[in-house]
Amino acid sequence: MSQYLRKYLAKFKGYVPGEQPDPSFIKLNTNENPYEPPASVINDLKNGLKDLRKYPDIEATEVKKQLTFNVRVNKESALKMDSIVVGAGEDELLDLVFKTFVDKNDRVVFFAPSYGMYKVCCDIFDAVPVEIPLNPDFTIPEQKALSTPGKLMLICSPNNPDGGRVPNDLVSRICENFKGIVVVDEAYVDFAEDSALGLAAKHDNLIILRTFSKSYSLASLRVGYLVSLNRDVVLAIRKVKQPYNVNMAAQVAALASLKHQPEVDEIIKKVKDERNRLVGLLKQIPQVKVFPTESNFILIKVAVGNDETNMKINQKIFWELKKRKVLVRTYPERGLYEFQRITVGKPEDNDKFVQLFKECLEIGLSG
Ligand SMILES: Cc1ncc(COP(=O)(O)O)c(C=O)c1O
Repeated sequence: MSQYLRKYLAKFKGYVPGEQPDPSFIKLNTNENPYEPPASVINDLKNGLKDLRKYPDIEATEVKKQLTFNVRVNKESALKMDSIVVGAGEDELLDLVFKTFVDKNDRVVFFAPSYGMYKVCCDIFDAVPVEIPLNPDFTIPEQKALSTPGKLMLICSPNNPDGGRVPNDLVSRICENFKGIVVVDEAYVDFAEDSALGLAAKHDNLIILRTFSKSYSLASLRVGYLVSLNRDVVLAIRKVKQPYNVNMAAQVAALASLKHQPEVDEIIKKVKDERNRLVGLLKQIPQVKVFPTESNFILIKVAVGNDETNMKINQKIFWELKKRKVLVRTYPERGLYEFQRITVGKPEDNDKFVQLFKECLEIGLSG
């Protein structure tokens, strides 16, 4: 059987997702929103599912129309419908970008560590992954970013796993220098203070990806959107997408969420306030280094000794937390041994996490 597999699958490891444990766990490992969508959105979803026998709208027209009301490119320009492609989550849109622009052996530049799907897409499309290591503080090494050639560059901002945002002036300089397509993955942008969307008016090689999975609490329905002000880019991507890529429930829920944006914004504010409170609590633990975040998760490092000691303690904490039914994200498969990423949960879950984390840290420190 293996002799029939496409050649790339021989070296293909696939994406390693965060675990989905039983509901008794405090689940702080996959950056989901801790809150359900607003009741008004659930209500619209229940009432909006009609004519299930029909295929959904190929263009997700209503979602795009509503996006033009909710989202502006910048102060001067409104977002237009023909600048948008709606997809089944950002993961599908990422796949479409590869399908549209990446040939076998093309160089795809991205930063490490970052979102694991970038490498997976390179493997699937037989592209050459060019990983630029981030600086120890998770900022982008500018000279490398400005001088590394490729067909496609992927910038995650805010970056997963650290939560830091890439400054717009750097994104702009990258777009000017890079002779290829630049994608800014803004999965977490609604928890941040700024966005790179405005730059799309200046750079016709820039594509912005966004999702309803995080700030809109709709991860289960799979819906996201892509913005490019370059008509050719949008037309090419629309050509390669499957016609009925976004199902009706996803379209109805996305539209409802945009119509009830003020209620969604309240949820986003709650998560951001809670993130800031949790950062404060974690900063009080002397052995913990907390990295700046503009996202709905927080990266921490337990720093007490050399890398090996830190790694052992960190792994111990992870397993002790898991025994106590708290799940955070670690990355042994990516060599980020000393780090844990904590998704911001509800206040009561975060309090419980901090209490148990301290307990498990003591266990880890006592060897
Ligand atoms: C940086 C980043 N981009 C994209 C995604 C995928 O988003 P979606 O659920 O829209 O496919 C994730 C999911 O965790 C992510 O962390």
